[in-house]
Formats: sequence, C-alpha cells, structure tokens
Amino acid sequence: MAHHIESACIQWQGRIATWLRRPLAHKLRSLSNKAAGGMNWIEDQWFEKRHGLDCSGFIVGHELETSYSSARAHSRAYQAVTCVAIRELLNEAMKTGIVFDHFIDLGSGKGKACFYAAANYRFRRLVGVEFSEPLVQAADCNVRKFGADNVCFVNADAASFSLPAGNNLVYLFNPFGEAILLEFLKNNMDKFSRSQSIIAYANDKQRLCLAKAGFVTLFRNQDSQSSLHQYL
Ligand SMILES: C[S@@+](CC[C@H](N)C(=O)[O-])C[C@H]1O[C@@H](n2cnc3c(N)ncnc32)[C@H](O)[C@@H]1O
Repeated sequence: MAHHIESACIQWQGRIATWLRRPLAHKLRSLSNKAAGGMNWIEDQWFEKRHGLDCSGFIVGHELETSYSSARAHSRAYQAVTCVAIRELLNEAMKTGIVFDHFIDLGSGKGKACFYAAANYRFRRLVGVEFSEPLVQAADCNVRKFGADNVCFVNADAASFSLPAGNNLVYLFNPFGEAILLEFLKNNMDKFSRSQSIIAYANDKQRLCLAKAGFVTLFRNQDSQSSLHQYL
C-alpha cells in the first residue's frame, strides 16, 4: 500500500515537473483549454437541468438496440452533442440568410440537438430520426418534459427517410458511415435540388461523400471538424 502511494506521488511529481518545463505560451493555452472545457461542461449540465432532460450516456455502435439490423454495422456511437458544437453550426447556418422551415436531425439519439435548436432558434417543425427504439423512447420522455408541440421523433433508418418539402436544415453528428449517407442522399437529391436545404455536419467524418455527390462546402471549422454543405 505504502509502495503504491509512493509510486503515485512520484508519477505526479514527474507530471508536474514536465508541465513546469513547458514554455509559458503552452502552459497558458493548456490552462485556457481546460477552463473552456469546464465552462462547456457547465453549460451542458445547465441546459439539460433547466429543461428537465436526460441526454446522458455513451453507447458504442454495435451495442445499439435496433430492429434495423443491416444499418447497425454502419452506426457510430450514441453520444449527445455539446451546446457549443451545435450552436456553432446553427449560427453559421443562420448567417446564410436562408429561412428554414424544418430542422431534421439524422440519428437524433435522446434528442439534445432538436431541443437546443427548438429552445434557441425558429423552426416550424423539428424532427429527430433515430433507428434505436430505446433511444426514441428516451427522446419521447424528454419531449414531454421539454413541452414543445413542434418537436417529434421517428423510429426509422435515416437511409430511407424522406425529407419534407421546404427548406430543411439537415443536421448530423457523425451518426453513420458512407453507405447510409449515400443512400439518404440518393433518396433525397430532388428535395435538395428543389429547395434551399443545407446539411450541417458535426464531426464531419464522411464530408468527402458530400463533395462527390455535388455539394459545396459553405463553411468548415478545422478545429471543431464542423461544416455546412449545400447542393447548388
Ligand atoms: C453521435 S449520436 C448523435 C445524437 C444526436 N444527434 C445529438 O447530436 O445529440 C448518433 C446517433 O445516430 C444513430 N444512428 C446510427 N445509425 C443510424 C441510422 N441508420 N438511422 C438513424 N439513426 C442512426 C445512433 O443510434 C445514435 O443515436
């Protein structure tokens, strides 16, 4: 036990000494990143608490419960977006001047992005599309507490989801791989070409697919890996 405590102390002394040896600019940057991370965490806790939401948890893709078994192989993990990440994309989307009718979250999980968009921006309808039934049930439970009648969640595979007519802000937070994204685009190209709909993509791992499908990038932040795309 004493040996264990002693070696933990030595490890900490080593870490502190390494940190002290760094240039001042590095130290200040790392402290300010930590402070920003702490503020973001507080904002997320506050947002959920204020609206009575539970968007917690992390579920790896292959452990998600779903009846859309062929889509599961392409799924990424469930994890709620942070307020800071969704806000960046929504603010950039609003700067385009497009008046959006609908906010569509492909892979909506427990609904955090829809609730953040409904609380802070104006949309006629907000729809979350989620292929895992238990997550849709959690989002439905959240919407009852949130108390909005223009937010709803559907249990469906995004690949076969049909966008409503009008200007859609289609939002994704790295929900799935290329195969599902290409299928969704193929099924909705007419909607993209006949409206001013755009795709807001957080953690935009498959963004090259969008370029190959003829979308242009309106905005990209390399640090946050968030981007906006429109079919022109
Ligand atoms: C990273 S989470 C994003 C949650 C939410 N959009 C947010 O921003 O808080 C990705 C979600 O996509 C869902 N998903 C994965 N593949 C899907 C598919 N083919 N159709 C619909 N939802 C899918 C997962 O179940 C998971 O909840």
